[in-house]
Amino acid sequence: MIVYFNGQFQELNEVKISPFDRGFLYADGVYEVIRTYYGKLFKYADHLERFKASLDAIKINYAETDLLEQNIYKLFELNKYTNPNISFYIQITRGVSFPRKHPFPSADVKPTVFISASTIENDEHAINKGIKAILEEDTRWTRCNIKSVSLLPAVLANQHAVEEGAEEAIMIRDGLLMEGSHTNFWGIKNGEVWTAPLSNLILPGITRTVILEICSYIGIRVNEQAIDKNDINNFDEFFISGTTTEVKPVTQIGADVIGSGVPGEITCRIYDAYLKYVESRNWF
Ligand SMILES: Cc1ncc(COP(=O)(O)O)c(C=O)c1O
Repeated sequence: MIVYFNGQFQELNEVKISPFDRGFLYADGVYEVIRTYYGKLFKYADHLERFKASLDAIKINYAETDLLEQNIYKLFELNKYTNPNISFYIQITRGVSFPRKHPFPSADVKPTVFISASTIENDEHAINKGIKAILEEDTRWTRCNIKSVSLLPAVLANQHAVEEGAEEAIMIRDGLLMEGSHTNFWGIKNGEVWTAPLSNLILPGITRTVILEICSYIGIRVNEQAIDKNDINNFDEFFISGTTTEVKPVTQIGADVIGSGVPGEITCRIYDAYLKYVESRNWF
């Protein structure tokens, strides 16, 4: 597998990263996950904008963001993928500095840039049957709008989900369902969609924006309001969204089966509209 690392395209096993990289020592970096449909990057401009916002938020000065798109496509080409659905992981850390000290290193230390690609397999089972989620106390920091590589609370929450036979952990802060460990979270009540509002407590998902656009287009009302955990039983449907997740129905939360335990009607309408949006190729 060929990856991009600090200006070079090389075999993964040839990459050498210093243990004094601040990404390794402090999780001092940010990342993006971008996918293709039909061999084209989906919503690239939006992902780039969010990536730049994350870099700015943690004050990493990386001047070459304009080169990322061509490097991603080059990586796609070099790996000779036959599957047109690929996801790209892009990570930039503050770079290497010795000795280990908390403050930023001098301005001449260059950020470390890494991009890898992998194929996305369709998860038909989850789409047709729905997934189980669990509820988890949100122990993350209060800057969840930054796509930071410091993901330990999300990792622990998701691991807990897996141990409970679930796929996602929904993070609860102050009694409110904020988002999944790696997805945005949605509920449907009386035909209206609910999702947490943008704030420093959730990631501004690119798929979230697409779904908001779709709901407006197909005439489904959206309340950008977080669901109270005491109100869960009054909801008819739930789903999660994300770049590789797309739209996945949630048919069980903890021990509670939602509705009749099959993907809800409105979730399916949104999912179908999402697929049509992708197929329309209007986002090219
Ligand atoms: C915490 C969190 N929320 C939401 C999302 C979904 O974002 P997007 O739709 O941009 O993939 C992700 C994706 O990684 C995430 O990690």
